[in-house]
Amino acid sequence: MEIRPCRETNIVQAYFHTPLPNGLLTMDKQIKLGLFGFGCVGQGLYDVLNHSQVLEASVEKICVKDRSKKRKIDSSYFTFDKADILSRDNLDVVVELIDDADEAFKIVSEAMRNGVNVVTANKKMLAENFETLYALQKEHNVALLYEGSAGGSIPIIRNLEEYYDNELLDHVEGILNGSSNYITTLMEFDKMSYADALQAAQDKGFAESDPWLDVGGFDSKFKICLLTIHAFGVILKPDQILNLGINNVTFDDIQFAKQRNKRIKLVAKASKIGDTVQVYVLPRFVDQGTALYNINYEYNAVEVEGAYSDRQTLAGKGAGSYPTGSAVLSDISALTYDYKYAYKKLDKSRSNGRPKLKLDKDFELKLYIRFNNREDLKKLDITSIEEEYRSANLNYVVANVKFNSLFNVYNDRANELFVCVMPD
Ligand code: HSE
Repeated sequence: MEIRPCRETNIVQAYFHTPLPNGLLTMDKQIKLGLFGFGCVGQGLYDVLNHSQVLEASVEKICVKDRSKKRKIDSSYFTFDKADILSRDNLDVVVELIDDADEAFKIVSEAMRNGVNVVTANKKMLAENFETLYALQKEHNVALLYEGSAGGSIPIIRNLEEYYDNELLDHVEGILNGSSNYITTLMEFDKMSYADALQAAQDKGFAESDPWLDVGGFDSKFKICLLTIHAFGVILKPDQILNLGINNVTFDDIQFAKQRNKRIKLVAKASKIGDTVQVYVLPRFVDQGTALYNINYEYNAVEVEGAYSDRQTLAGKGAGSYPTGSAVLSDISALTYDYKYAYKKLDKSRSNGRPKLKLDKDFELKLYIRFNNREDLKKLDITSIEEEYRSANLNYVVANVKFNSLFNVYNDRANELFVCVMPD
């Protein structure tokens, strides 16, 4: 095989001189891309595309918002008018990598209506509009691929879709937000303050433009929504799902964990129990020796537990320009062999269009709850307190709490409680 990188034209071509065995991709298709967004992930994609040794793809146009920004490639690639891409009739794929979820939805749905395949990494847009996007895929017989939207570089969606397609999965859970994990890691390892650690996550390009989405657990929630679709065939609206984040974490909490050989990780969990699913995002004390304990910095990990395969963990970089760019590249590459998600579980798990599995919010969790004002505990339905500690600087309880009552502090930026799940 001879590889001819053409960096200056942002086209990479690879030619196979020897015939490939039957069934292998011959890469004779030149893919034409229209790209929306040239931020952290867009530039990452551009670079990984230019270093790809097998994918023959050309970026025809890149639509961006900011006219004043200096960019590292020739200005002739750029347009500020989305119609320059959406009205083009020679494109194979629209790649959507912008920040604004509402605008992204308009772009993605218009491209699909025009019969163009779409690759996106926009978890918020996908999770908030999934039913519509699912219908558009069927109606217009187009592919919508989004491996980069959950777990960064970890190939979890296609694995759930293909490898675990017949497996009876019990749960999927993991660390799905690189920024939150980066923050708690820097606080523990480098004694860095929360504010400095958040700034570091932003400087590295890991955080969302609004970092409340990261530290408040919303980003993890959008991602677990997508994994729940591919693991269990259940579409949930993000606002049905509880998310509390690490935005209130302090050194006292990290010390509490350390003394007990644990670490604080923001964990998104989806479990199937009978004909129900339990789905939530909460900080958790993870035990030394368990798979998630050593997932640090911007790394993510997803644990999948099946009836026959038992527990398996996939880990990798969960945020950043190149890791996410590589997942997007893999989707573009999958389109060269006409790959589409089959959504077998989704079709199987519905009867007359209605989901067979119900979302269960009626259960209890054992939680560590640190508080400044004990009155705040009244917001939660506590069934029993197993431990209580009061001092001048630190107050907490370890208590059993009705899960439903945690919605009383959900989405409340002023909430002063720090809630963390105690392992069984
Ligand atoms: N803000 C996200 C994170 C980016 O920190 O994980 C990757 O989805």
